[in-house]
Amino acid sequence: MFTLNTAATAAYVVAALLFILALAGLSRHETSRAGNTFGIGGMVVALVATIALAFDRHIEALGVGLLVVAMIVGAAIGLWRAKVVEMTGMPELIALLHSFVGLAAVLVGWNGYLHVERDAAGAEALQLGREGMLGIHSAEVVIGVFIGAVTFTGSIVANLKLSARIKSAPMMLPGKNFLNVGALVLFVVFTVWFVIDPQLWILAVVTVLALLLGWHLVASIGGGDMPVVVSMLNSYSGWAAAASGFLLGNDLLIITGALVGSSGAYLSYIMCKAMNRSFISVIAGGFGIEAGPADDKDYGEHREITAEGAAELLESANSVIITPGYGMAVAQAQYGVAELTRKLRARGVEVRFGIHPVAGRLPGHMNVLLAEAKVPYDIVLEMDEINDDFDGTDVVLVIGANDTVNPAAAEDPGSPIAGMPVLTVWNAAHVIVFKRSMASGYAGVQNPLFFRENTQMLFGDAKDRVDAINAALSVHEPV
Ligand code: TAP
Repeated sequence: MFTLNTAATAAYVVAALLFILALAGLSRHETSRAGNTFGIGGMVVALVATIALAFDRHIEALGVGLLVVAMIVGAAIGLWRAKVVEMTGMPELIALLHSFVGLAAVLVGWNGYLHVERDAAGAEALQLGREGMLGIHSAEVVIGVFIGAVTFTGSIVANLKLSARIKSAPMMLPGKNFLNVGALVLFVVFTVWFVIDPQLWILAVVTVLALLLGWHLVASIGGGDMPVVVSMLNSYSGWAAAASGFLLGNDLLIITGALVGSSGAYLSYIMCKAMNRSFISVIAGGFGIEAGPADDKDYGEHREITAEGAAELLESANSVIITPGYGMAVAQAQYGVAELTRKLRARGVEVRFGIHPVAGRLPGHMNVLLAEAKVPYDIVLEMDEINDDFDGTDVVLVIGANDTVNPAAAEDPGSPIAGMPVLTVWNAAHVIVFKRSMASGYAGVQNPLFFRENTQMLFGDAKDRVDAINAALSVHEPV
């Protein structure tokens, strides 16, 4: 017989399929819009089905009213944030959203405990279904609360680091690896104890332990590894949602949580490979990474160049590579950069772009900005495709990039970013670095590139400087 319940279950299957299509679509540039639309569609179907289920289960009017109000308030805040967020602020917003998933999982876990383990009627109702169900329920509660709490505080620290409200350098507590491993061992012990004897104080201790562990895990990770951490927290938030799904008996939450959890873990793994980092070390809160000595090396003097000087150098070049970074996004210089590219190409100069996998603040950040400014796709190359070509290149324009072009990663084994693949811009004949000061980049590491013989600094806002070069080139426009 057709009931609201069967309709909602069918709708959940449709929503799950739409989420799978969304992930498939989002994995390619060309299909990402369609992927986004599938995701929105899946979420709308899921929300409608959830409300229908609430009616079917005869939840009191107050409950349904609260559900609707919460959805309206949440949707309004979400729309407003998505509208005002700058592209450069996306990772911190994403980190904040992960923290909500974590918090929700903690609340669902506690709610489950208060309605079952702490409530004789609830426990009896559960046991009626099957013997041993109470133990399974207790395990779901404690595991869900643990994953949720780690995700919650970890994501808050990630948000604070990404928005530069706390320092991005790794926190180095003495015996930090021991603290992390100790917390995990305690968690296992308390889980077993809680399953045997579900007492409130155990759940409270596990919650506090997990909140501290989440904070410590992410605080211990240096700025250079933050992209991996954000994707790892994405994965944790998926597992937290899946744990809530088990508790609530909601299949869609289990499927969606598992999709997010496994895809986030795989993305983190790929990013670690791209950055030559140990996956285990990053997820274990910088396990094995110790604080290096402070960098007080004397790198010598840097040289400066003016926009007019840069224009002259570019006019006489045959080949130019532009390596953009976070500073191009901050300055919104992509339109000027696209204009400069057109001008140089019109003069017969070969212009290409070299994109580092973690340039900017989120994967694909630079590609999106350049596409927005209508830079042709075919001259935008990935790091691996272009790294051998710097050698024969006349001029490299490093526009607001820093860590991603740092030779210390390739040459100094003691550097905090040692081993991370970088764009080898220093092999070109001339390098011009656009930035506002001699400040370090996101990872907080000094960049010896700025002091190289073939490097010249072009100080100022990247947009202003690119516009000034365009103006200087216009003076001698080819006829
Ligand atoms: P960064 O190393 O952060 O360097 C950006 C540079 O831009 C800074 O040196 C800054 O110098 C300059 N800058 C800022 N505003 C500017 C403006 N208005 N005009 C001109 N220059 C400006 O950037 P990157 O090379 O793109 O490297 C990315 C870093 O972010 C990596 O460490 C990466 O791990 C991390 N990260 C990446 C992601 C992803 S997934 N892409 C996510 C989170 C973190 P001044 O202040 O002197 O101007």
